[in-house]
Amino acid sequence: DKNGYEHYMLKEIHEQPHSIGDTFRGRISIDKTKIFLGGIIDVMPKLTQAKRIIIIACGTSWHAGLVGEYLFEEYARIPVEVEYASEFRYRNPIITPDDVIIAISQSGETADTLAAIKMAKKQGATIIGICNVVGSSIPRETHAGVYTHAGIEIGVASTKAFTSQVTVLTMMAFMIGRKRGTLYDELYKKLIHELTLVPEKIDIILKSENYIKGIAEMYKDATNALYLGRGCLFPVALEGALKLKEISYIHAEGYPAAEMKHGPIALIDQNMPVCVIATKDKSYEKIVSNIQEVKARNGIVIAIVTKGDETINNLANHVIEVPDCHESIAPLLTVIPLQIMSYYIALMRGCNVDQPRNLAKSVTVE
Ligand code: F6R
Repeated sequence: DKNGYEHYMLKEIHEQPHSIGDTFRGRISIDKTKIFLGGIIDVMPKLTQAKRIIIIACGTSWHAGLVGEYLFEEYARIPVEVEYASEFRYRNPIITPDDVIIAISQSGETADTLAAIKMAKKQGATIIGICNVVGSSIPRETHAGVYTHAGIEIGVASTKAFTSQVTVLTMMAFMIGRKRGTLYDELYKKLIHELTLVPEKIDIILKSENYIKGIAEMYKDATNALYLGRGCLFPVALEGALKLKEISYIHAEGYPAAEMKHGPIALIDQNMPVCVIATKDKSYEKIVSNIQEVKARNGIVIAIVTKGDETINNLANHVIEVPDCHESIAPLLTVIPLQIMSYYIALMRGCNVDQPRNLAKSVTVE
């Protein structure tokens, strides 16, 4: 049931204030001072003492894992590696019983992810799942786990499952950080509060849908696009590029903004839309200069900015505003306009948005 929407993808984009709420419901105390993830309580000693966390996933779930890497290292101070399941399983990785593996999968059925955790389990690692489909194969292979509770996702291009995965990883990073003492109480409470504000902030972003549709109309005939971000917004750039390519068949690449000058900058000309995720955080000044570099080569800049940003407004061709937030929360907000833009570009190109060619919702073959 599409609930009146033309496509499941659009319905699922709009569900995100609710689905994220469902992800943290019952897991954040009413007074917003504590996070409680029941599914990983038994492995908390393992997690807090882990020498290393290895996150394994594919596709969009791998992008969520990259956001997790930034958050775990920042707040829990545990080294993290993020691996494509298909590469990890075939390269004879070094795994010890002190390692904790986190497998992220919407479907819980992805063949490579499943095989990778079976292998790591044999070598003694502790396996934690972050999955959406209850009772699927991956949760049955893990020692512990947290369901994302995003609700069934039908559109092949993942939207609400991604934001719920990021929400779970954010809660885990804060909870482990607090337990390890790397995150002090005052900041912990502030961050929890920030997380609980995400649904209403996404509601505000969704009100820009028509404006974003207008931008989509201008660039629907592009043949290439570049997405740039820094820090935990670099994975959002990757995710924006993946959303565009998988449903609109436009070639798109995501890059860490500073890497641009090591190659991709050669591609920039007056026909190249460059989406820059540039909300106010500790790398803001740097990303402003990356925008100037693109403009100096006549590139078209579509910037995702914090509400009221005058500096970038004066530089970019278009700005899409998101409400002010703590930088740890920004991935959850900034991905929303990118999902909407991809949706409308695909729609205007006459693509089958919910069932893109060559793709399947669950990849049970390797
Ligand atoms: C992208 C997409 C795929 C999946 C990937 C992993 O929109 O849907 O890239 O993210 O196939 O699937 P799961 O999360 O089910 O393991």
